[in-house]
Amino acid sequence: MDLLIKNGTIVTASETYRADIAVDKGKIAAIGSCFEEENFDAVEDAQNKLVLPGAIDGHTHLALAFGGTVSSDDYYAGTRSAACGGTTTVFDFVQQEQGERMLDAVKRRDAMASVDAAVDYSFHIGVGDVSSEEMLDSMEEAVENGIPSFKVYMVYDFGVDDGSFYKVLEKSKEIGAIVGVHAENRDVNEYLVKRYLNEGKVSAWWHYMSKNEMVEGEADVRAINLAKMAEAPLYIVHLADKMGMEAVTAARNEGYPIFAETCPQYLHFTNEVYKRDRGRDFVCSPPMKNEESREALWNGIRNGNITTIATDHCPFKQSEKDWGIVKKDGTPGDFTTIPNGCAGVENMYPYVLAQAVAGRISFNKAVELCAANPAKLFGLDHIKGSLRPGLDADIVIYDPEKNFTITNDAMHGDTDHTIWEGVRLKGYPQATYSRGRLVFRDGKFLGKRGDGKLIRCKKLKFNGPEL
Ligand code: URP
Ligand code: ZN
Repeated sequence: MDLLIKNGTIVTASETYRADIAVDKGKIAAIGSCFEEENFDAVEDAQNKLVLPGAIDGHTHLALAFGGTVSSDDYYAGTRSAACGGTTTVFDFVQQEQGERMLDAVKRRDAMASVDAAVDYSFHIGVGDVSSEEMLDSMEEAVENGIPSFKVYMVYDFGVDDGSFYKVLEKSKEIGAIVGVHAENRDVNEYLVKRYLNEGKVSAWWHYMSKNEMVEGEADVRAINLAKMAEAPLYIVHLADKMGMEAVTAARNEGYPIFAETCPQYLHFTNEVYKRDRGRDFVCSPPMKNEESREALWNGIRNGNITTIATDHCPFKQSEKDWGIVKKDGTPGDFTTIPNGCAGVENMYPYVLAQAVAGRISFNKAVELCAANPAKLFGLDHIKGSLRPGLDADIVIYDPEKNFTITNDAMHGDTDHTIWEGVRLKGYPQATYSRGRLVFRDGKFLGKRGDGKLIRCKKLKFNGPEL
């Protein structure tokens, strides 16, 4: 057999227990005790360590053309960074072009990912064109080929109107898919942008103000209402506001299959970051909100109404963030000329697990939010998201005693700064295995470009808010 992980404490979403794990041909072969070491090619001693399933980041934007540039982590850099933070699967987004069949969009993007990814990956399809029956119907072909999740944007010029959103929701229910939504009120956002710019209000703070609590909250409520009308499941991505959290909670209490993702940046930072000298580095959509929203999200985590944590990893270089001061063409910039997005794929699992070390949540909850629930929600729990025989050996050895201060120098992506600079964590991943291959140990990436493979997910069916 390939690998024995011995003496550790196994933590899944539902259990914590002492046992050893035998790994063979990339899978968990057995969990138990009394394995003979001489039967294994490698032995990992996990004494005083936790043994966890690798995290599944349900929301990344690798090599995304956006904001006049391309996000600075490609599929290699992004997945390398993921591995070094204990994330063994990422879900990236493909944006369907006009007239492009959904599955063709996936193939176009997979041509890039398959040669570069160092850990496993899958896709959600960003809906760009459902103006014809043919385009709408092409959703089914994607589902049949293992991609059962779609995303609509209620903002941006490529976003969809409510009618198209509704059509996609209805279709998704019929074909066994789920729709994710980036919920912000586009019209109000555009109006506020114009107003602030006319008033000469150009700093990063006005990015937050033009996408404030109500701008997001209204869209969250509308998205939930559309899902109720269509009797379809809905996944609100990067939920960052209290109004949205309350709407999600109410809909779930009424029995609707409404799910919410939030991100570490919304749990840790508030809108105060936009007052910093380099507030522009924190510009992302949706922006960080007020303390009340931050607390509402933590409550949502504790009471089970936040289903997953993901990152919305979408890094840009500081020179690009500086376009908020001086644009590429040398003319004065403003908050609308800052590419939206921040790095985070390497910080998610360490941050959430450190909250468990600090006693804010349990380790089981951390694993549920970052691994087990994304696996169930996106239809890959027959392959990943837990530790049991037959599943992929995506395993993190976690040292709950290690003190770690986040610095960009210690990160493994391709960007040149991190919004997490200086944040101190108690507890950190010591090693990561991706399908049984060691891809990270003691601060070093040990994986290989191209070793990651495309994960095909099952069809989805939700009868209520439980997964
Ligand atoms: O700020 C973000 N999230 N950038 C990526 C594009 C998007 O809005 O999801
Ligand atoms: Zn995103």
